[in-house]
Amino acid sequence: MNETSEPRSPRPGHIENDPALEDLLAFIRDSRGFDFTGYKRTSLARRIRKRMDEAGITGYVDYRDRLESNSEEFGHLFNTILINVTSFFRDAEAWSYLRGEIMPELLANCDPAEEIRVWSAGCASGEEAYSLAIVFAEALGIKECAERVKIYSTDVDEDALQHGRSGIYSGRALESLTDELRDRYFERHGSQYVFRPDLRRRVIFGRHDITRDAPISRLDLLACRNALMYLNAETQSQVIDRFHFAVREKAYLFLGKAEMLLSDSERFEMVSMRHRIFRRRAGMSAKRYQQPQVKTGVISGNDIRDVARRRHLRDLALEAAPNPMVGLDSDGTVVLINAQMRAMFGLTARDQGRPFSDLEISYRPTELRSLIEQANAEHRQVRVGAVERLTGKDEVQYLDILIQPLWESGAAPDGVMVVFTDVTTATRLQLELKRNQEELDTAYEELQSTNEELETTNEELQSGNEELETMNEEMRVRTSELGEARGFLEGVLSSIAAGIVVLGSGLAVRSWNRGAQELWGLRPDEVRGEAFFNLDFGLPTGQIHQTVQECLVSGKQVGPVRVNAVNRIGRAITCLVTCSPLDQAGDADGVVLMMEEMSRP
Ligand SMILES: C[S@@+](CC[C@H](N)C(=O)[O-])C[C@H]1O[C@@H](n2cnc3c(N)ncnc32)[C@H](O)[C@@H]1O
Repeated sequence: MNETSEPRSPRPGHIENDPALEDLLAFIRDSRGFDFTGYKRTSLARRIRKRMDEAGITGYVDYRDRLESNSEEFGHLFNTILINVTSFFRDAEAWSYLRGEIMPELLANCDPAEEIRVWSAGCASGEEAYSLAIVFAEALGIKECAERVKIYSTDVDEDALQHGRSGIYSGRALESLTDELRDRYFERHGSQYVFRPDLRRRVIFGRHDITRDAPISRLDLLACRNALMYLNAETQSQVIDRFHFAVREKAYLFLGKAEMLLSDSERFEMVSMRHRIFRRRAGMSAKRYQQPQVKTGVISGNDIRDVARRRHLRDLALEAAPNPMVGLDSDGTVVLINAQMRAMFGLTARDQGRPFSDLEISYRPTELRSLIEQANAEHRQVRVGAVERLTGKDEVQYLDILIQPLWESGAAPDGVMVVFTDVTTATRLQLELKRNQEELDTAYEELQSTNEELETTNEELQSGNEELETMNEEMRVRTSELGEARGFLEGVLSSIAAGIVVLGSGLAVRSWNRGAQELWGLRPDEVRGEAFFNLDFGLPTGQIHQTVQECLVSGKQVGPVRVNAVNRIGRAITCLVTCSPLDQAGDADGVVLMMEEMSRP
């Protein structure tokens, strides 16, 4: 495999730098202990702005005040920044590559007596960790997996971890599983599915910040997918240092499809570029490269001038070569510096004959001495890709460097050639492309999360609608039942010949039946709601005031009392009035008056 590595990101000077945003990030780090300063600014700023818009705040300084004064705000911000989009077997092709191509070798490398250790870092709500459990259980069998495999599942988002711990998912979340896998690994509980408990016990959830916390160690497989993409290049490379420590030699690292290892071909071998699967290299015991034997021509001695001429031509060719080159002998003494080398690095012919290690180029822009040693020791080319070289303030040149050991015969190299290639234009384009791609990836990720939010809101609206419809239906049924009851009662009241008057709270008229209308000539709509004792009709109501009060106080029926009155047609009658308490909850001061004309003897 070629050792050329990915170019590094541009220097900090190129990254947009908003002091107010930086202050806000420092404040969050110092007051809340969460450090977002290693996150890529473009997507981070976009997420913070989104939350600020939701909170109705326009400036970072005001938003900082809000964070200080409202303890819940940090939770909202945290949830907005950390995008939890995930799914079972996300990027199906990469997972089937893992199952088909990686698992057999991974398991073959494991000592049967030892635990198999797996880590899902940045696991969100656990789908990735359970997908890993399924992959191992499918390869080993459920029983052996439950005995041998331990899966650490970590994230910084406690809410997401809480969900993961529960192991409960909706049918919709399991749509990417075949029915067979779903039924083998999940128990159905109503509309929800629960991951089977024997394997669930082997998945350990915990809070872990990949940018700060000590890594889990001795791993056979580390999946860190779609989390590194939010970090800037410097933080990514610090995290990769930790991951290098975390995985055993020859163990695997599984990244997200938009993620790469930065300049790390020294330590990780690329197993599948397409599926972003890497393997930690084993020590430095790389296979020895057998340099093809160089054929040395036998100088006849006849034509010594010809040989000298050819040698001179070779020297001229090297001198005029378009790439800067420097040649060293086996002691590390400089024996050749060509024209391009002198022009680009300011060397002179006097530097020929000096120890290479005395020249600045031996350690700047990159440490070449150890790489030369490595090339000599391993008898092979060593390449370093896109090394940054500062050529002025904020002016960067990118160089590919090839270190080529030279042999004439025998085991030890006779010297080394170091060749530089200026790849600035290509690297800039590549970086631009990479940045755009990353932008696209994060924007897509955000879009997915916004889509999910929209779907949830839609679902909530729909369920709110359904509730309203149910309540409406209930109201309609109640109203019609009430109408029926009222009709029934009114029917009963009007079929009674006597005058029945119901007085409610404040002794206002609530009901006035047909008997009362016949007796006194007033219609129900004229009296309903009026204070009974203010009404002016043929019954001198003042005479039954006492009766009504007694009834109200005693809660018992009072009467009948005789009252002289004048009926509807102006005839003098004697009216018998009986007052009964209205036995109805919440209407304790109501009464029912029954009024009958006393028949004449
Ligand atoms: C887009 S999700 C990816 C989930 C899953 N790995 C996948 O690929 O489907 C990114 C996860 O990384 C987590 N994350 C972000 N920064 C982190 C950090 N510093 N340490 C650990 N997890 C982090 C987020 O909380 C989020 O759950």
